[in-house]
Amino acid sequence: MRLLKSILVTGGAGFIGVNFIRHLFEKAGFDGTLINLDILTYAGNPASLADIQEKYSDRYNFVRGDIRDRKTVDRIFNEFNIDTVVHFAAESHVDRSILGPEAFITTNVMGTFTLLEASRTFWNGREGVLFHHVSTDEVYGSLGDEGCFTEASPYDPRSPYSASKAGSDHLVQAYHHTYGLPVTLSNCSNNYGPYQFPEKLIPLMIMNMLEGKPLPVYGDGKNIRDWLYVEDHAAAVWNIISSAPAGESFNVGGENEWENITLLERLIEIVAARSGKDPAAIRETITFVKDRPGHDRRYAIDCGKIKKELGWRQSVSFEEGLARTVDWYLDNPGWTESIRSGEYQDWIARNYGGR
Ligand code: NAD
Ligand code: TYD
Repeated sequence: MRLLKSILVTGGAGFIGVNFIRHLFEKAGFDGTLINLDILTYAGNPASLADIQEKYSDRYNFVRGDIRDRKTVDRIFNEFNIDTVVHFAAESHVDRSILGPEAFITTNVMGTFTLLEASRTFWNGREGVLFHHVSTDEVYGSLGDEGCFTEASPYDPRSPYSASKAGSDHLVQAYHHTYGLPVTLSNCSNNYGPYQFPEKLIPLMIMNMLEGKPLPVYGDGKNIRDWLYVEDHAAAVWNIISSAPAGESFNVGGENEWENITLLERLIEIVAARSGKDPAAIRETITFVKDRPGHDRRYAIDCGKIKKELGWRQSVSFEEGLARTVDWYLDNPGWTESIRSGEYQDWIARNYGGR
């Protein structure tokens, strides 16, 4: 039996972490204590959880700190008697990893190593504990027209981001095999939904449409991604940490593949319908730009294992998920303004001349 009484969530102020913490408190019936350790890079916004902080102040604790800092991590383990780690914290954007890979190596590889060491030392063979590592399908590389990634697919990362995630996955597996640390892993496809920093495809395009800016499509626009609604991902992680045997990896996907350009056309329809803008005028702002170096062509996930073994299912259709996402960005302009106001603005000006 898993203890699940004192959970350390890393990166819980980022997109998926916020949705996961909301899921735990509001939907999953989690009744323990949760510590959210987040350094608050450009991508972290503690305001995303202000209501949770207020409502569950006796059980929700936010610590601003670095997963690479062993002292901070040890202090949290000791003070809160952590029995479960759910590790989301990472540098997560491929384009940033191409422009500056170093933070990806220190946070994604060294940060994961620091957490693993702290867990191994503190738990020291204790029963009922678990280290869950959240990873990506990008570790498997790029697919041609056919086929899907399974848990048995060989690792073949091709960007600094995916290489750093692959490195961290290998460390997590190694700690299981070498030290017997109880671990689980999930490798999921592209998430979308509320609270996503507007540099990833879907929220960037929504914001640019609302602000009348160009819609930059990389290359020929025919790269394919599989899209998973973030709440379905949160439910999958809860499912895994509650019931999956230690040592297992699970692929989590939406079974929902789209070419970028087709997705964009659909998104234009939805944004236009919900904001009252003219779809033809938005369509004119589509701008094909230089391709991303080493741009992976296609990702697709076979998530049969988590369905069969843990009974998980996607519950939100793409149509419904996109509508909810667009509505959320329309209803929360203050959130976008606050998260874009910091480091991001300087960074984007330096690298993209303010695009
Ligand atoms: P995100 O960039 O929105 O959030 C990352 C969070 O980690 C931020 O709040 C940031 O402040 C925090 N963080 C970064 N470095 C840290 C450090 N050194 N110490 C403490 N906190 C730190 O990322 P996300 O989209 O929420 O992704 C979460 C996890 O899921 C990542 O591990 C990512 O690789 C994985 N993943 C994401 C997707 C996706 O589509 N977004 C898909 C597959 C896997
Ligand atoms: P992204 O959201 O960055 O996720 P990932 O690279 O991890 O899959 O990009 C999703 C797809 O959209 C990818 O094929 C790159 C493409 N893309 C664009 O065409 N334009 C953009 O401005 C961005 C951010 C992405």
